[in-house]
Amino acid sequence: MGKVELKDGVYWVGAVDWNVRDFHGYTTPRGTSYNAYLVVDEKVALVDTVKPHFAEDMLERISEIVNPKDVDYVISNHVEKDHSGSIKEVMRLAKNAKVVATERGKAGLTRYYKGNWPFITVKTGDRIKLGEKILEFIETPMLHWPDSMFTYVRKDRLLLPNDAFGQHIAASKRFDDEVENVMDEAAKYYANILMPFAPLILKKIQEIQTMELAIDMIGPRHGVIWRSEPEKIIEAYVKWSKGVAKQKALIIYDTMWGSTEMIAKAILKGIINEGVEAKLFRLRNSDQTEILKEILDAKAVLVGSPTLNNGMFPSVSGFLTYMKGLRPKGKIGAAFGSYGWGKGAVKAVKEELEKTGVKMLEADLEFQYVPDEDEIKRCIQFGKELTGKIREEVYP
Ligand code: FEO
Repeated sequence: MGKVELKDGVYWVGAVDWNVRDFHGYTTPRGTSYNAYLVVDEKVALVDTVKPHFAEDMLERISEIVNPKDVDYVISNHVEKDHSGSIKEVMRLAKNAKVVATERGKAGLTRYYKGNWPFITVKTGDRIKLGEKILEFIETPMLHWPDSMFTYVRKDRLLLPNDAFGQHIAASKRFDDEVENVMDEAAKYYANILMPFAPLILKKIQEIQTMELAIDMIGPRHGVIWRSEPEKIIEAYVKWSKGVAKQKALIIYDTMWGSTEMIAKAILKGIINEGVEAKLFRLRNSDQTEILKEILDAKAVLVGSPTLNNGMFPSVSGFLTYMKGLRPKGKIGAAFGSYGWGKGAVKAVKEELEKTGVKMLEADLEFQYVPDEDEIKRCIQFGKELTGKIREEVYP
């Protein structure tokens, strides 16, 4: 795969990582891409780079268009190494290039690479004229690092928003209308990376709307480029950031000898008997990246654990720690579980689940050794009553 022209004089010159399966804890069964863009006019700008060991791929693609030594500006929208990792290589070749970044981007790049490069620091609204093409910058602090910014190519109505609107997909095609299940991967990406920043995302989208930037293409840093109705992904971000939920429940648990699983399945039965969508995940057999995607549009999140050493099972504890960091919005939930001679897990799950921001429901679902027939009926009844609460208020 060589260069790809997005717009007249704007090229994708990134790299496809077919084999990455774990992106600092995020499982990536479809791989990913590191998207860099070359904007060519009287001056030449490279917008972001790629992971260090893909530098050669990127430089080869740039060389099909211009000599890399002729790059005038290296725009660094974000310091994280999957985007800045080849900047040293580029700056070594492009001896007259200036690095363009936010003040915090400059500080981060200097700390990472110790490069004594000429910097141009930019704020929202600042512009760099390449010729007919003008690059405009929008600071986006904490979307998703303090240094982050978007670059907008005004003439081409092209937004290059770095990590926002991305998906972890490796593909031989570059556009959303050429690849399957893009929105599903975008939801997973949002849930696992951007969900904690939902209020900032809503504010930033409003700000961009007031700037009246016409956008007919969005080139994120990972995955495919949104060219068919790019407003679809903006609308999805608004919906996800508002915490809009479906009538859907998740039952997430682990089990030692099967008792907590019996409770989980009885609750599931009570929910699905009422016609509400529900999904069951046993943590040691499930991918937590995928579970977080499912949480994104679920109204209810129930978490169960057996008691181990007076506390939660380690897989449940690890999952709740991960979920707490991602701060899902507008969920209701409950804890359940089993114990032998001493309780502990359900209280611990309840406390931790509450800290994730879930509104806890009253529930008496903790049973010794193996739940009996009446206790199983109580779980089914809980599931049934839960559907009433899910239906009461789907939108937070
Ligand atoms: Fe794709 Fe924040 O790095």
